Amino acid sequence: MSKQFDVVVIGGGPGGYIAAIRAAQLGFSTACIDAWTNDKGGPAPGGTCTNVGCIPSKALLQSSEHFEHAGHAFADHGISVSGLGIDVAKMLGRKNTIVKQNNDGILFLFKKNKVTFFHGHGSFVKADAAGYEIKVAGKTEETITGKHIIVATGSNARALPGAPFDEKAILSNEGALNIAETPKKLGVIGAGVIGLEMGSVWRRLGAEVSVLEALPTFLGAVDEQIAKEAKKLFDKQGLKINLGVKIGEIVNSGKDVTVNYTDDKGAEHKAVFDKLIISIGRTPNTHGLNAEGVGLALDERGFIAVDGDCKTNLPNVWAVGDVVRGPMLAHKAEEEGVAVAERIAGQHGHVNFNTIPWVIYTSPEIAWVGRTEQQLKADGVAYKSGTFPFMANGRARALGDTSGMVKFLADASTDEILGVHIVGPMASELISEAVVAMEFRASSEDIARICHAHPSLSEATKEAALAVDKRSLNF
Ligand code: FAD
Ligand code: NAI
Repeated sequence: MSKQFDVVVIGGGPGGYIAAIRAAQLGFSTACIDAWTNDKGGPAPGGTCTNVGCIPSKALLQSSEHFEHAGHAFADHGISVSGLGIDVAKMLGRKNTIVKQNNDGILFLFKKNKVTFFHGHGSFVKADAAGYEIKVAGKTEETITGKHIIVATGSNARALPGAPFDEKAILSNEGALNIAETPKKLGVIGAGVIGLEMGSVWRRLGAEVSVLEALPTFLGAVDEQIAKEAKKLFDKQGLKINLGVKIGEIVNSGKDVTVNYTDDKGAEHKAVFDKLIISIGRTPNTHGLNAEGVGLALDERGFIAVDGDCKTNLPNVWAVGDVVRGPMLAHKAEEEGVAVAERIAGQHGHVNFNTIPWVIYTSPEIAWVGRTEQQLKADGVAYKSGTFPFMANGRARALGDTSGMVKFLADASTDEILGVHIVGPMASELISEAVVAMEFRASSEDIARICHAHPSLSEATKEAALAVDKRSLNF
């Protein structure tokens, strides 16, 4: 007889492993199946985020930022550095160690919370009175049964037709995180989050980076004023961002990659790169699940179709994270995972999609929550805005990082905060205050009247809130 569980989670990324832990905490017998395998053939739970996403990219961003600071920023502090070099193999080794620590941490958390972990590929077999039979194909094959199933199988990089990833010259995020030595010329197709983050890493380490973006606007989802400011700063850093291009034939010689493209004025170009990163979005992982075998419905874009509560069309089958609609973010996946476990327990799990923060970990960082100015205009909402530049913030000056600003958008009549947008130092940390404020439906006046520590970057947030009513004190 197969092993029976109350909850079986397929996928051990941020959506799946967190859902499994929460389900176990709520008293359910819980299994989590994850297929990710490390270079020794062992399990590596944590999904895209841990293995080839959030964690390794931030490790490389940190290393490359240290390198850049040592080369340029330290001199202003009177610190001289000679013989500066970068050992890329060591940098990658450090990144791999951090990834492994996270994999091991998740295996430890499974043990601590009594989640039964299966290393292998999970797929639906059939539904019967006991629930759903799931086949686990790992080193051995077995079938387990779950009363409730949570599908959290994540996403994969989307390839460009005619330019398959070989992870040697044409790279997805996986290859982009493992380039063995700094390329002389790096091409990036797609000026989205991955393109900008990975482009920044290799530019800081000395690569000449050209980013080719199809859309005529830069970071269309970001508040226009913030995106414009960010573009100015990236241009100054030497990140060459070409907007409005049309990619033509891509030829991978094995040694280099030639990209034929037409620019926004219609001129044709032939660019040769040592490496080419293609970061044009991601597609949901639904293949190999036998979704069709049990009648699990997908939406028109190939995501598992779910309602606002992450319920699929099948009774007691749920889906969370990148494999369903909504932003492809680790924290969004986690929140959905927790909410689903709580809903299974009859509780009222809740995810507020209006207050999910976004962060782009470039330098300066870009972070936002809520609506942009262009969205408020399109929605016909009357709003007030206030901005404050880091140039006028004492802590930013002491840090030597005065680029960017904080921007508040508040309802014109009620003063409720509708969006907060930041480009500048530590924007990833500063945005949390705005998320909390919006979750509590605070007004800009609330933030303006709260005492913020001096000197701190967070004073720029308070000052931007003050600026909504045209009463900033330090600008
Ligand atoms: P995944 O993390 O993709 O996990 C799914 C897991 O399921 C994988 O381990 C996969 O092997 C496994 N799986 C798939 N099918 C099966 C099956 N049939 N059986 C068993 N296992 C299966 N987000 C942020 O919020 N912040 C960041 O800084 C950030 N940086 C990123 C950087 C990069 C380069 C990339 C690519 C992504 C980044 N993201 C970031 C996005 C983030 O990684 C994803 O949103 C997040 O990982 C989604 O979690 P998930 O659990 O839905 O899926
Ligand atoms: P993206 O959606 O952020 O950006 C893709 C870009 O490629 C867009 O600007 C798009 O217009 C462009 N594009 C699409 N087709 C193109 C073509 N044929 N030619 C040229 N340009 C083209 O996707 P990306 O960067 O691949 O990242 C995927 C997702 O991973 C992100 O949307 C995000 O959800 C997540 N992520 C999150 C991070 C974070 O939170 N810091 C970091 C990295 C990834």
